[in-house]
Parts: sequence; structure tokens; C-alpha cells
Amino acid sequence: MQINPLSSHTGAEVLGIDLTRPVAESDRAAMNRAFVERSVLVIRDQHLTPPQVVDAVGLFGTIFPQQNTKFAIPDCPQIHYVSNQDSFPDGRRYIPGDGWHTDHSNAVRPPKATVLHAVQLPDKGGDTQYANMAAAYAALPPATKERLAPLMGIHVYQSSHSARKLMGLNETDKERVPNAVLHPLVRIHPESGAKSIYLNPIRIEGILGLDHKEALPLLDELLEYGTQERFQYRHAWKPGDLVMWDNRCLLHKANGDYDMGQVRYLYRVMLQGDVPR
Ligand code: SIN
Repeated sequence: MQINPLSSHTGAEVLGIDLTRPVAESDRAAMNRAFVERSVLVIRDQHLTPPQVVDAVGLFGTIFPQQNTKFAIPDCPQIHYVSNQDSFPDGRRYIPGDGWHTDHSNAVRPPKATVLHAVQLPDKGGDTQYANMAAAYAALPPATKERLAPLMGIHVYQSSHSARKLMGLNETDKERVPNAVLHPLVRIHPESGAKSIYLNPIRIEGILGLDHKEALPLLDELLEYGTQERFQYRHAWKPGDLVMWDNRCLLHKANGDYDMGQVRYLYRVMLQGDVPR
């Protein structure tokens, strides 16, 4: 097995491993170290069925139950799909993950990681972009760090301020999803100890104790700052990629910039995380 960096700060690719076969503990530990250090792990050349994806992600944690069961794969509901072939009820095409976010931050214990496995890709485009919010935090001026330190974000299923609308939940899913959850705006990574800016434009409704007039411009400013190109890694998908990213210290977004006559279809699963602190 070989692990190579994919940019100066984010991303590592893993070559020479077959996740359908037993993985040595030393290889598992090396991949997990690379995941914590590099935040995006790209395991190349995998061709996994949904049950094999379940087994493979078990190397890194426990599956987090997704909030919207609409996208579950019938024979293996722990695995969901991401596809450009679905539409909103009004007929508009639905591009999942289109817009910067971190996954399911409205959960009390949001998923530490999300895994996508490419099944079908367009010839060109459809990259996933990542913004390293730990690198962004580290580069903040001390006065801004001090200002952010006590602040708590209010996370909901769908923020009323978000330009991107999510697919609605069915009644059973609605009952399972928390109404509103507070998380620190700066969180400490439980494995690396690094601090990150923790926000989510799709789910953050405001900041506890701050007027919207103060909170919303601050959130916009942090988003613009944290998603600058210097903090980004952009993943151009290759057939067989299995990509696992760290939701605790990254924002990510999908790009609907390709020929919609072509199918983009990936398996998706998340791994349970801790209460952000
Ligand atoms: C997601 O946000 O989970 C999907 C990302 C992608 O499709 O690239």
C-alpha cells in the first residue's frame, strides 16, 4: 500500500489496496492516520457493491443513520445514493450537495466522516470541492479567534437563510430529526486536537445571543474567508475512487457543471461522530 499527498494541506490518495479483501491492522491504522492528517482520503481502484461498501467503511467507524431515507438503496438501506437523475416535486433537477456545507450538522453527534464511492461519472466535471476549515482557522488573526471562541451556532434541518433547498423529509424521518442543536462555532478535532471553524450555510439558523444583523454578516464573512482557493482541495473523480472526508474540519460542495445528459451516480454513507466541543 502507498499513500501520497494530493495537495500541500489536504487530501491523500491510497494505492495498492483491495477493500474486498482482509486489510492488515497496520494498513488500516496508516489509512486512518492519513485521514486525520489530510482530511480527505482517496482510495483508488475499488469496485464495491453496497454490502462491500458497508464492510469497507467498518474499518473506520460505525455507520451514521441518514436523515432522509428517500435516497436509501432498497437492498442495502445503510447505503444511500447521490445522483443527478432526481427532481424536486416542482420538476427542477436536484443536485445533492450543491453549495458549501458540512454533513448533518443539525445532529447532536454529527457524522465525523462521509464516504462516496463512484459508480458512474460524467466524462468531464462533477468535481467535489473541499475547504479546510482548520487551515482557515489557523490563519485567522488572534482578535478574530478571540471573538469566535465563545460563540455557539444554532443548526436546524434546513436554514431559512439558505439559498440551497434540501429535499423534504417524510413524516417518519421528520420525527427522528432534531429541531435545533447548538454547536460551537470553533470546534476542536477529537483526534488531532486542531481547531476548526464549524459552520454550515445550509443548516445554520443563527448564532446564540447575537442579533441576525450581527450574526448573518459574520457567518457570510467566515464562509467567504474559509472557502478561499488557498484553503481548498478540489477532487476530480476517477472511476473506482472511494473518497472519505472529515466533516469535523472541512466544508465541501458538489459541482453540477457537467453535461446533465450523462449520469453521475455514487454510493454514499456517513460515519458516526462525537458531540462537537
Ligand atoms: C455530498 O455533499 O454529500 C455530495 C458531494 C458530491 O456529490 O460531490
